[in-house]
Amino acid sequence: MFVLGIESTCDETACAIVEDGRVIFSNLVASQAKMHEVYGGVVPELSCRSHVEDLIPLLKRALEEAGVRLSDLGLIAVSHAPGLVGALLIGLNAAKALSLALGVPFVGVNHVEAHLYAALMSNDASPSYPCLGVVISGGHTALWLMESLGQYRLIGQTVDDAAGEAFDKAAKMLGLPYPGGPQIEQAAKKGNPKAFPFKAGTVKGKPFDFSFSGLKTAVLYSIKPQDRDALELTEQLRADVAASFQEAALIDIVEKALKAAELYGVNDIVLGGGVTNNRRLRELFSERGQGKRCYWPSLELSLDNAAMIAGLGYHVYQRRGCRGDLYTLTCETRLPIDACNS
Ligand code: KG4
Ligand code: ZN
Repeated sequence: MFVLGIESTCDETACAIVEDGRVIFSNLVASQAKMHEVYGGVVPELSCRSHVEDLIPLLKRALEEAGVRLSDLGLIAVSHAPGLVGALLIGLNAAKALSLALGVPFVGVNHVEAHLYAALMSNDASPSYPCLGVVISGGHTALWLMESLGQYRLIGQTVDDAAGEAFDKAAKMLGLPYPGGPQIEQAAKKGNPKAFPFKAGTVKGKPFDFSFSGLKTAVLYSIKPQDRDALELTEQLRADVAASFQEAALIDIVEKALKAAELYGVNDIVLGGGVTNNRRLRELFSERGQGKRCYWPSLELSLDNAAMIAGLGYHVYQRRGCRGDLYTLTCETRLPIDACNS
């Protein structure tokens, strides 16, 4: 079955054609990063306008590249949650309109769950369930016990910034462009990770929750001390702050994930979200993972994309007994992945 995936939760418009949840025929992304860069973050109104402009041309190209016609589609999958409301509406309404016009069912899928599915799509082997799901993106940071694809129990989540958001904000303080994650990773290569004794936060009584806001403030004070004038942001200082920040944030994620895996007795760890792109993160898991098996998304599927939406949509549709969603489906700006699978 050919599934069209549509993604528009934030600042990427994406369309993909995927067969049977796995074989990618096309996977196109129109990123708005350049447009938002001047503002240092996503401007929702601009994002919506771009989704409107980009979606139809991208859809046409995705079909063309895949060699698939609209009449070949068996299902339309769209990320209907979570994200920016205006952005979500554009993808969801496009999916509904196509579904109605073509007489093809559509399903709404959860973007965060799709990030985990991206890792399953990228690996031939399947994890043994239960396993640990680790979502580290620009909007989310959470640990899930995955009983199976579609069954999740929340173990811990961020109480303030998401990991990717902290990377973006730290980068902004260091005068690096948006999105900041890859910029911090690049700058960190020339820096000393021990130059500053940064540490991510802990949450009382919740050992698997995350807190990155204190770490962010520590970054600010390292370049703008409260009791002195701001330091000159030399190349070396920027690299040292970036490396120390990156190490502290990533070690926190790796340690909490590994402790959770130990506590819940799971051997396999499935990771998803833009921060999984970070090489140092992958290194830390293999250095400290003690034989735990990690399932990483391919680099193509780690950032926002529509192949993971089409892929997951196929399974959502199958497990519901091949029933699509009703046209009354709304988009949700916040929706945990364990609330999505009725
Ligand atoms: O999953 P994603 O594409 O979008 C969301 O669903 O949020 O993640 C984007 C986030 C951004 O915050 C970006 O800075 C971060 O992922 N990111 C990285 C790296 N590449 C992207 N963070 C750290 N290191 C990277 N190499
Ligand atoms: Zn995402």
